Amino acid sequence: MVLKANADRSPTCGLADVIVGIQWGDEGKGRVVDYHADSYDLIARFGGGDNAGHTIVCGKRKVALRIVPSGVLQNRPLLFIGGGTVVSLATLVSEFEMLANLGIDIERIRVSDRAHIVLPYHAAQERATEKRRGAHAIGTTGRGIGPAYVDKAGRVGITFGDLHRPTALAEKIAQRYRLHGDDAGAGVESPPVEAVIEETLTLGRRVLPHVVDGVRFIQEMLQRDCRVLIEGAQGTMLDVGYGTYPFVTSSHTIAGAACTGLGIGPRSIGSVVGVAKAYCTRVGAGPFPSELHGATAEWLRERGAEFGTVTGRPRRCGWFDAVAARYATQVNGLTSVILTKLDVLSGLERVGVVVSYARDGAPISMQSLADEPLQTEVEWHEGWGELPRDARRLRDLPGNAGRYVEALQRALQVPIQAVSFGAERSEMALS
Ligand code: GDP
Ligand code: IMO
Ligand code: MG
Repeated sequence: MVLKANADRSPTCGLADVIVGIQWGDEGKGRVVDYHADSYDLIARFGGGDNAGHTIVCGKRKVALRIVPSGVLQNRPLLFIGGGTVVSLATLVSEFEMLANLGIDIERIRVSDRAHIVLPYHAAQERATEKRRGAHAIGTTGRGIGPAYVDKAGRVGITFGDLHRPTALAEKIAQRYRLHGDDAGAGVESPPVEAVIEETLTLGRRVLPHVVDGVRFIQEMLQRDCRVLIEGAQGTMLDVGYGTYPFVTSSHTIAGAACTGLGIGPRSIGSVVGVAKAYCTRVGAGPFPSELHGATAEWLRERGAEFGTVTGRPRRCGWFDAVAARYATQVNGLTSVILTKLDVLSGLERVGVVVSYARDGAPISMQSLADEPLQTEVEWHEGWGELPRDARRLRDLPGNAGRYVEALQRALQVPIQAVSFGAERSEMALS
């Protein structure tokens, strides 16, 4: 199956479909990409790095991917790590090894020469910054993602293209230490420069055969009318410009960033599909208006196995947030939504949806959200029992579950094209 809004398109030019998370990450993007991947020739990541954890369950196989795109378990597509990403060489190499051990062909993986390398001093810097922030810490994944993007914007970053010139690369790292040694070093246990150079060159040699001219690569794929599926990381509410700033990641995660993260124009984009959980979660600090505490939160966390893939932290849980979802529809220009984890709500007597929030009685917008308790208006829906595992169409869902999906569709104001009700690849009902 091809993502819906795109299905009727005449196959005249190589358009690319985009999948993005529309909440605070972990919506199930990986499993949605895996489900569709065999209808595409290329799956491309455009941003973030190994702060992402995308889990795929297929039969006895359960694979958690951090940086390699989630189409890798399907045989058809090539996999592309685009120029907007920041990538740890150590994570990439260990992911290559994990996949090769599963018998998966990793020769299909390409990395853009424009992608930036996350170096060991980035994580060290981040640990120090988080410590200094104390009670105001962001609660990052600790992978050095923020400092790597800071280096990119500060024009002292190291790219995958630099791996082609090892001597110059070693000098760049040494220069980075000379120029920024102090702020990298203020209370920071940065690893010694020689060790960083040595590790980067060794891992770099392993990765180099996968490095391509990222712009030429993707442009050729599009010109050859290849079907491209672009995989978002994190979620809309974690976007550095349009999320719940400053409690966000350091990159743009919304659909618009697919273009800048791959070096393609907006006219290359076809469908923009948002992935949302049937409820909400957030890991790390920051505003979360529909957050629950107590027994229902525990229920969602246990039934939904809501523990971070990257850090193992318990995820905060809450009702579906229709205000945030509508905002996400707009800022991404969604054409449809895929809803995940509907099964986690099965067994609740009633299910809530937050439809508005206010401060001191006055409605507030996403932009003015602060990390504070809000008054929320909750719309209640009658619960349902276990969902039939063989459901393949939305009409196969029991009455109350179907009505809940319809209510979310009204809130989103775009069609819900599929609903998943289990982690296994096949547990998906289509409209
Ligand atoms: P991503 O970061 O958006 O790819 O999402 P994650 O993989 O971090 O988190 C989603 C988790 O929910 C994973 O463990 C999936 O295996 C699991 N999952 C995905 N869809 C469903 C579903 O429909 N039902 C249940 N119970 N689990 C699901
Ligand atoms: P996927 O792709 C959930 C969160 C962190 C923290 C904030 C900043 O699996 O959905 P960072 O390490 O990026 O500087 O952390 O963003 N965060 C995620 N939360 N899913 C993710 O990715 C996330 N990537 C980052 O918890 O609150
Ligand atoms: Mg995740």
